[in-house]
Amino acid sequence: MDYRKIISAMTLEEKASLCSGRDFWHTKAVKSQKVPEIMVSDGPHGLRKQPLSQDHLGNFESIKAVCFPAACATASSFDRALLTKMGKALGIECQAENIATILGPAVNIKRSPLCGRNFEYFSEDPYLSTELSGALIKGIQSKNIGTSIKHFAANNQETRRLTASSEVDERTMREIYLASFEGAVKNAKPWTVMCSYNRINGLHASENKTYLTDILRDEWGFDGVVMSDWGAVNDRVKGLAAGLDLEMPGSYGVNDREIIEAVQSGSLPEKTLDRAVERILKWIDRYESKKQKDVKWDKEADHELAGKIEAESAVLLKNEEQILPLDKNDTIAVIGRFAKAPRYQGGGSSHINSFKVTSFMDAAKGKGHDLLYADGYDPNKDEIDRTLITKAVNAAKKSDVAVVFAGLPDSFESEGYDRSHMRLPDNQNILIDEILKVQPNVVVVLHNGSAVEMPWEKDVKGIFEMYLGGQNVGSAEYDLLFGKVNPSGRLPETFPVKLSDNPSYLHFPGYMDEVKYAEGVFVGYRYYDTKDLKVLFPFGHGLSYTTYKYSNLKVSKRKIKNTDPLTVSVDVTNIGRMAGKEVVQIYISAPDDGIARPRHELKGFEKVSLRAGETKTVTFELDSRAFAYWDTKVHDWVVPEGDYMVEAGASSRDIKYSKKVNIEAVTKPSITITENTCIGDIIGRPELAEDLKPLIDSYMHADKKDKNKGSEAISDKMIGEMLKFTPLRGVISFGDGEYDHEKLAKVIKAMQAKI
Ligand code: BGC
Repeated sequence: MDYRKIISAMTLEEKASLCSGRDFWHTKAVKSQKVPEIMVSDGPHGLRKQPLSQDHLGNFESIKAVCFPAACATASSFDRALLTKMGKALGIECQAENIATILGPAVNIKRSPLCGRNFEYFSEDPYLSTELSGALIKGIQSKNIGTSIKHFAANNQETRRLTASSEVDERTMREIYLASFEGAVKNAKPWTVMCSYNRINGLHASENKTYLTDILRDEWGFDGVVMSDWGAVNDRVKGLAAGLDLEMPGSYGVNDREIIEAVQSGSLPEKTLDRAVERILKWIDRYESKKQKDVKWDKEADHELAGKIEAESAVLLKNEEQILPLDKNDTIAVIGRFAKAPRYQGGGSSHINSFKVTSFMDAAKGKGHDLLYADGYDPNKDEIDRTLITKAVNAAKKSDVAVVFAGLPDSFESEGYDRSHMRLPDNQNILIDEILKVQPNVVVVLHNGSAVEMPWEKDVKGIFEMYLGGQNVGSAEYDLLFGKVNPSGRLPETFPVKLSDNPSYLHFPGYMDEVKYAEGVFVGYRYYDTKDLKVLFPFGHGLSYTTYKYSNLKVSKRKIKNTDPLTVSVDVTNIGRMAGKEVVQIYISAPDDGIARPRHELKGFEKVSLRAGETKTVTFELDSRAFAYWDTKVHDWVVPEGDYMVEAGASSRDIKYSKKVNIEAVTKPSITITENTCIGDIIGRPELAEDLKPLIDSYMHADKKDKNKGSEAISDKMIGEMLKFTPLRGVISFGDGEYDHEKLAKVIKAMQAKI
């Protein structure tokens, strides 16, 4: 396609019109130039292709498709290759269904367990989120199908999602909320990015040049199309100027006319419109020029794959007295509606019309088990039904073990609104309590998209977190519970003991349209671990039916420069009797140097498969970014010098070994020195020592002269400490009278020249 030629032949009307959707799912064709329309579809964990009536909330029927596990589950796999495999399957489905781009992955950070859409998001940790979503993007795009990483940015709640302003400081934005997109955008190069509904520090994401152009394109090198979330456009002309290329789904021509008028009146340069048109044409061409014809997709094979992915993702949270795997010869009470009709996906735009669903009971059928099933509760009602509970208790009494399939009902978590609490329905908590009265061997299998409180956690022996495990969750449950598959999922989020422990608690979901991200970078384990707060289950936690031993943690160098990479390796041995997969996690702990940094941060992870008795060496290459924080003085990533700890562990609370690495700062951030620069902020710079010394002497001298200050009242050490927080101008009042503004200005000029 000769884009330039096409653009020059297009009328203004045609160009404006190409910048919004024909309907919910299609771009517009440009007939005069033989440019075809293309189709997009949700996403992210299956196809929601709507052939007839259309909506963005999943109300109208879509084609029969396969619902893979949602991101809450796949994130728990900690397995990049698995996500790429799932992406490839989705890519083939899109090829077969003529979908040019799938609307996902969704990578917003799980700031609060209450966000109604947490089930679609990966993690509370940006590194895990960006790595896994990047792997999914690579898989999908390897089939020449586009992705739309969403929702850019700081869209972490559903309450007032179209009007609320996320009030986030610069450092937090960079280290947490943008970082979740950054790696995937840079490394996996999504074809499109979807901007979010919300405002960011007051300005709509859809017209925010800082994010849509300055950061996304100029800094990260994004070269695709930015599309709006469905209905996220506030001011179309401002949006176009800020870098929003495509409005979805369109506004029946209203906003196209605004673009035309703005160009005609001269308030919008036509080349800005041409730029968006060119990006859209490139995107269409990218798909059309390599479009696969007559592709068939195998629903049954993808159903199988969905079950396998879930089996690699589910997290074994607790396994006391090795109650699991279950004994095939036992009588097992299977309690809970979710054993027959599992909750396996969330509500809203990601809702898939599954062509079939396999429950635990389906998967166990005909395999010769002695199972006593009881409903236990009605997921569609909040009331406590004593008849259902009594039947369940009777089944539990007659069995060797009771497995309770619990979780959040559909109405509890969905796109469009947030949860109001973190509890399971009362009718399930009471059911578990009643069963515990008659049966000591209780296992709970959970189906939920986000963390829940577990008042019975101490009393049950086993807990499996399935998350929202896709339409074949039952096969995974069967394989895991009976030990055909060794569990290997790890929590991609912390489960706090109670909701009020969560760092965003006092500020979620904000007051009216103002949402203050007051906890700053202390999101998830960055908060719980820094505070050393008791949690129910920590980030990265997950058990196995075998045991792993760590040894031999090595770092390539004990002293590096702050521009150098570092190689870290550690040996892991499977010391049990069953093959399994361990997730080795590398955290970095920064020196305590006055910059409020989290206790530690995840900077590497690898899932390794180990036969019984096998040892593998796992190696990580860390670049300087692994040690950096975002310095708002210089608006850049900075690695301060000092001693860092490199930690290898099995969760954020299970650090097996750590090694100290000293980092020397060869590149120091350049700063602007003024009269208000504190002495402590520049005292560590050797190049300034010569100029700083007379100023410090002036203070010390003045202090010595002051007869009223006895040396027992204030020592040199104390003066030294106080000086750290004294601005340079302080020498005029507190020095020995040597300095006035003019003389100080000369010193400052001399110092500035040396930086
Ligand atoms: C959601 C998006 C989705 C779009 C289209 C919006 O309401 O926020 O995630 O892709 O609808 O269905």
